[in-house]
Amino acid sequence: MNIILLGPPGAGKGTQAERLQKSRGMKQLSTGDMLREEISTGSELGLQAKRYMDAGKLVPDDLVVRIISERLGRGDLENGFILDGFPRTTEQARTLDSILADKGIRLDGVVAMRVDDDLLTERITGRFSCAKCGAGYHDVHKPPRKPGVCDECGSTEFSRRADDNEETVRQRLSEYHGQTEPIIAYYAEKGLVREVDGMAPIDDVTRDIEGILACVQ
Ligand code: AP5
Repeated sequence: MNIILLGPPGAGKGTQAERLQKSRGMKQLSTGDMLREEISTGSELGLQAKRYMDAGKLVPDDLVVRIISERLGRGDLENGFILDGFPRTTEQARTLDSILADKGIRLDGVVAMRVDDDLLTERITGRFSCAKCGAGYHDVHKPPRKPGVCDECGSTEFSRRADDNEETVRQRLSEYHGQTEPIIAYYAEKGLVREVDGMAPIDDVTRDIEGILACVQ
């Protein structure tokens, strides 16, 4: 099954994608992670993307399309994929349609996660992840079971994202409402959208998404 998780920054897309990856073997395809990887390797694409990401702005469509189309071309998606953070503009959505059509891949659904803006800043500024395995945590909502030790790999090193500060979050929210939210209508016209309450506790959101996926199958 191939789905898109759509929602504002901090909605819980990464959290839920990580869970679906574990429970269903679907591959999480996060353009944010791919761009951060490009930055960490010092590639030309990463250098170009960094200044947009640091400012909380969307990276230009052509750069993002280049990395996602290469990723979709690798032959390891037999258990399906979860697009996390892509598409983010109507142009990207149209391009995705044509990439999938070319590759003969079907998009099964779009899960739109609804969360009020005032909750998002608190979620994003409290977020951190394991520096070794990438497992995601939150100071309040999802601390490691043993303080200072990763539940997944036992590492004691954690990191916070450079763009997880209040000022950048405001800009990211503005980009979301201006450029990404209109995509919901684009996919609703195709009958693909299912909504979940992203303000519910993490386990409840997972249960709702699993319920939706069970109906799509
Ligand atoms: P990206 O990395 O995609 O970031 P984002 O969309 O801003 O989303 P986040 O990763 O911040 O949030 P999330 O929804 O995954 O939430 P999470 O699960 O971590 O993009 C970063 C940048 O890259 C963009 O600004 C842009 O510049 C660029 N970019 C990426 N893709 C692009 C594209 N397609 N086009 C152009 N530019 C692109 O949850 C957040 C926190 O809340 C966590 O700590 C979690 O534990 C907690 N939490 C989650 N769910 C719940 C819950 N239900 N209740 C309580 N707490 C919760």
